[in-house]
Amino acid sequence: MDSTGAELPAPSPAPLAPWAPTSWRDHKAEQQPSWPDPDAHQSVVDRLSSMPPLVFAGEARELTEQLAAVARGDAFLLQAGDCAESFETSADSIRDRLRVILQMAVVLTYYTGVPVVKVGRIAGQFAKPRSSDTETLDGVELPSFRGHIINDIGFSQGDRLPDPERLMTAYNRAAATLNLLRAFTKGGFASLTSVHQWNREFVVDSPAGQRYEAMADEIDRAVQFMEACGITGDTLAELRQVDFYTSHEALLLGYEEALTREDSLTGGWYDCSAHMLWIGERTRQIDGSHVEFLRGVNNPIGCKVGPTATADELLALCDVLDPHRRPGRLTFVTRMGANKVIDLLPPLLSAVSDAGHQLVWTCDPMHGNTFTADDGHKTRHFEDVLAEVSGFFAAHRFAGTNPGGVHLELTGDDVTECLGGGAEVLTEDLSSRYETMCDPRLNGSQSVDLAFRLAELLRATSDLGA
Ligand code: PEP
Ligand code: CO
Repeated sequence: MDSTGAELPAPSPAPLAPWAPTSWRDHKAEQQPSWPDPDAHQSVVDRLSSMPPLVFAGEARELTEQLAAVARGDAFLLQAGDCAESFETSADSIRDRLRVILQMAVVLTYYTGVPVVKVGRIAGQFAKPRSSDTETLDGVELPSFRGHIINDIGFSQGDRLPDPERLMTAYNRAAATLNLLRAFTKGGFASLTSVHQWNREFVVDSPAGQRYEAMADEIDRAVQFMEACGITGDTLAELRQVDFYTSHEALLLGYEEALTREDSLTGGWYDCSAHMLWIGERTRQIDGSHVEFLRGVNNPIGCKVGPTATADELLALCDVLDPHRRPGRLTFVTRMGANKVIDLLPPLLSAVSDAGHQLVWTCDPMHGNTFTADDGHKTRHFEDVLAEVSGFFAAHRFAGTNPGGVHLELTGDDVTECLGGGAEVLTEDLSSRYETMCDPRLNGSQSVDLAFRLAELLRATSDLGA
């Protein structure tokens, strides 16, 4: 607004340099492995360029529309999954991750009445940024593990050598995972008539699992009621399938470039490795390769925002990544830490909204709350996760902006990686089922517990579900 209170038109975007799927190569690319044989890497990238796309441009556009509803405050984004997916993930484990996301979504929808946009960190979340290029164990220094798309987690020279053939394996694993997810979400498993089946045995006994059972009984009765009233056909068919989207950090740019295709319908470029891609906290430099690459693809994109981010940096990112101010195009994923969020977030929210950008703001309460427990395990406490989400909601109330959603690291399995939660995990439990290849994830019952706590926070927020 100007001094008379009139709305100012959005400034026209500054002209940007021409873009091509390869233009990132002229910028500085952080966090790329050094391939022992660059020609071998290029030959895999060339082979990948002729493989079929994993997702369609139209699906990515559909997700952008759903995220536009999130930006308006008419829907809530649940983005969740592994920190780092493994090439060895079993079909059961994929099903169980989907199952816990469906459980969380149904809890949120049931208690808030707001549609939940479901996006997995799945079917491509294979590359990890690292704080250090090397890792030292018992005096031996080796290259860091960078995710299964690059090297292996074992601690030997052979395991840690970047292998470009892994890009092809990653593509095949992503395709197989996506195929299974499409079968589960469209083939009846995700039907609202199956809500009880999503609650796994070990979750049923936890307080959150019991609360879930009671809610599932009510949903069953509501569905039976609708059927008894003669509501059939398309309306009931709607309850039998869900839209589920995939996402990962667009870290390994050779892989992302190879899967980027020109859409025959619109002529726009899409990164067809996933519906949504995000830029990590370590690679969001405005003149870096990752920003350069993602500015040119038309998928909805995310960008992590950590405690060192400034308002000027965010405004510059908005101008480059969303120059046409398309609602749903850009999501800022904030990860400040439970004790910093309330101080650091409101000025950023205000700066971006005062500049006229309508983005999705979502809360990653995981990456700012990691610490090493007394027994040496990297962990997070459920209460810190909850505290950051709650600070995130408070910051949005303060700034008058929409808290759009959450971005979580979780698994459906009964792991003991994060502390606390309804069926409390204690420090002495951590070593019993600590299975992650990277960061600690919420287990099935902690995730369902968090969904109920989130639903309560959402109901208490006047912007949504009131
Ligand atoms: C992640 O999401 O796994 C991650 C590495 O996060 P960040 O970029 O926020 O540190
Ligand atoms: Co992580």
